Amino acid sequence: MDSKVVVALGVGLGLSLFFYRRKHTQSPRSKNDGIVWLIGAGPGDVDLLTVKGMNLVRQADVIVADELVDRSISDLAPAGCKFIEMGKRGGKADSVPQEDINTVLVAECKKGHRVARLKGGDPLVFGRVWPEIEALNAAGCQYDVIPGVTSALSAPAAVGIPITHKELSRHFVVVSCHKPDELDFADLSKIDTIVILMGTRTLPIITSRLQEAGLTPSLPVAIIQWAGRPEQRVFVGTLDTIVKQTQGETLSPAIVVIGKVAALAKV
Ligand SMILES: C[S@@+](CC[C@H](N)C(=O)[O-])C[C@H]1O[C@@H](n2cnc3c(N)ncnc32)[C@H](O)[C@@H]1O
Repeated sequence: MDSKVVVALGVGLGLSLFFYRRKHTQSPRSKNDGIVWLIGAGPGDVDLLTVKGMNLVRQADVIVADELVDRSISDLAPAGCKFIEMGKRGGKADSVPQEDINTVLVAECKKGHRVARLKGGDPLVFGRVWPEIEALNAAGCQYDVIPGVTSALSAPAAVGIPITHKELSRHFVVVSCHKPDELDFADLSKIDTIVILMGTRTLPIITSRLQEAGLTPSLPVAIIQWAGRPEQRVFVGTLDTIVKQTQGETLSPAIVVIGKVAALAKV
């Protein structure tokens, strides 16, 4: 064989080996390689974590989990992955302050770690993720947002409620009722299906304001608690009856669905 051909073959082989090894061996990471993945962990059923979310958890050095995230997701993490529980729950006095969460995310990222920040449902749907993004931006940390299955959609689905329906629901709205005074109930009453997050504590206010806005007392209401988890519960009633029906029950976390389709819930 021509010696030039042999040299060319050798160089080619050497380069292929170099690139193969670079791709398949883990090189040590520098501090600048840190990244925070803001991952939507879904509503609780691990099977509703996206494939992308799962693949990233499998590469994580650190998991920082919100309160409503199913702890079994951490079983996917590699050996040695650090697990930090940092949850915020609206209205809970022992919630971790947002600044503390931001500090941990930035510190872990600056150590060069790959951080899986697990948020319940979708991180950008009432997920309080924006302050974390601002802190990461301010610190010059890399981040990526990985969408998740929001409880606003998966909770009705878990009990077979179609939030759109050809005859019963042409439109829907998703709101938080943590602060009902900030909502316009006259506007809400014009929407066929109202999906409410963080609305169990204020249920008496919601149901009475919607009736004052003209909705019929017999309009169906469904409450789906712990959707997708073994402890899932569903209550079905009407604007007029649901408060009495659920009196004395601890309902949070739950999704409230108000509209004709709520009557289709599988109880
Ligand atoms: C701070 S918000 C977070 C929402 C989340 N980012 C999402 O997309 O589902 C928390 C509220 O979501 C709702 N929620 C979250 N997970 C739920 C579940 N498994 N079942 C019912 N409601 C849930 C409840 O209304 C709860 O109070």
